[in-house]
Amino acid sequence: MKAACIGSGYVGSVTGAALAALGYPTTIIDIDPKRVAMINEGKSPLYEPGLERLIRECTGQGMLSASTSYDAVAEADVVFIAVGTPSLPDGTADLSYVRIASGQLGRHLNPDRFTVIVMKSTVPVGTADLVASVLEQASGLRAREQFAVVSNPEFLREGYALEDVFLPDRIVIGSDQPEAFEKMRELYASLLNRSSYDRLSALFPFPYSPGSAPAVYFETDPKSAELIKYVSNAFLSVKISYINEVARLCETLGANVLDVAKGMGLDSRIGGKFLEVSSGWSGSCFPKDTSELLSVSQKYGSELTLVKAAVHSNEAMLNYCVQKVQSRLKTLNGKSVGILGLTFKPNTDDTRHTQASTIIRKLTNLGASVSAHDPKGMEMFARLNPELPVKYCSNPEDVATRADAVILLTHWSEYGELDWRQMGETMRHPYVLDTRNFLLRLPFGQWGVCYEGIGI
Ligand code: UDX
Repeated sequence: MKAACIGSGYVGSVTGAALAALGYPTTIIDIDPKRVAMINEGKSPLYEPGLERLIRECTGQGMLSASTSYDAVAEADVVFIAVGTPSLPDGTADLSYVRIASGQLGRHLNPDRFTVIVMKSTVPVGTADLVASVLEQASGLRAREQFAVVSNPEFLREGYALEDVFLPDRIVIGSDQPEAFEKMRELYASLLNRSSYDRLSALFPFPYSPGSAPAVYFETDPKSAELIKYVSNAFLSVKISYINEVARLCETLGANVLDVAKGMGLDSRIGGKFLEVSSGWSGSCFPKDTSELLSVSQKYGSELTLVKAAVHSNEAMLNYCVQKVQSRLKTLNGKSVGILGLTFKPNTDDTRHTQASTIIRKLTNLGASVSAHDPKGMEMFARLNPELPVKYCSNPEDVATRADAVILLTHWSEYGELDWRQMGETMRHPYVLDTRNFLLRLPFGQWGVCYEGIGI
């Protein structure tokens, strides 16, 4: 089997490299010649642990290449669509890239070969049907007879994408065409029996865990598959917002949210994951997906009120963090605040829709000056937020110099190794707000630094 993957963004690069590593000669197609050149040189167009090495291996073996042309589509048995679906101002997903890619793809479909088009981008319910009709128009071929569109949502966590792609919990395939189901089963067979993982494990940046449960392969109709992606991410958002609200209640009642979350998570019906307190969930998926799901549920008169509440609760959490600093410093006007962590979570350079931009905007609106550090995300953050008056520091320690407060927003492991005692000495007012409860084992009290977490 040969594969093509349209889009070399986060999902496309990971998916394309993974297909090549699974043994399918793969072409990644992208309109951006710079990204195409990078892949062909064996480089990753974005930061993701292990991805560059995988791309280098696969291009070196001639299994992976990239191109600005759609010619590879005519040779492919499966073509993944992994282009962006950003939010429109009304919260719904912008499908213009999906339409453009489908039109181009349709013009290159091979009438003599049954091609399976796989929707990997997170798309609203009904998009598989829409793509099928765009393809019919562009190609003159008949959907279900000469090609099929299936939904195969991605569940990749940034920072852990290779683990998620090669050791998935589940693979969801939505189709209404038996031949397409068959081809997808064949495509993913080596992921299901873990044999590909055994073969490739030396390349991965995470420990080999032969004991992990095999992936569940789940087949359904296209609309249900499309919805599974949205409702899963919305459920996780609700779960995080819930523990964040519980953390605030713990502060009021004098309980400890770490123990409360642990005790809750011991119930297997609840589970212990995604109960970690933060300044709020963010990133390129949760805000976009909750917003699309909420808009669509409202449009069809079945509003998901719990998701709406989670979105509001998440905004309130950001305010809460700023208020915590404000009440400690009395006023933020004229104060200097250091920020550690600009990415929405560790192990990524992604600063899209990150909590840091909202918090920094609030701080500066209240008159504070802000300096910031992030191991990977400063460049993207500065590019996405040119209006924010931030002093970027290449050393994390420098955000503390003459600061009235340091706020830890992202729990990069290196922030646990800093000389906090020394940093406290350089601060004008030694106060640390740790929104991830990440540093709580450090003896800040002994060092004369006032330390606060959330809910502890
Ligand atoms: C998410 C989904 O997890 C993944 O399955 C999907 O396909 C893409 O969207 P990702 O956006 O990479 O992945 O991030 P994730 O690890 O889920 O974290 C999302 C946000 O929630 C981050 O801001 C993170 O810091 C926050 N979070 C996560 C918490 O605040 N507490 C937690 O317990 C877990």
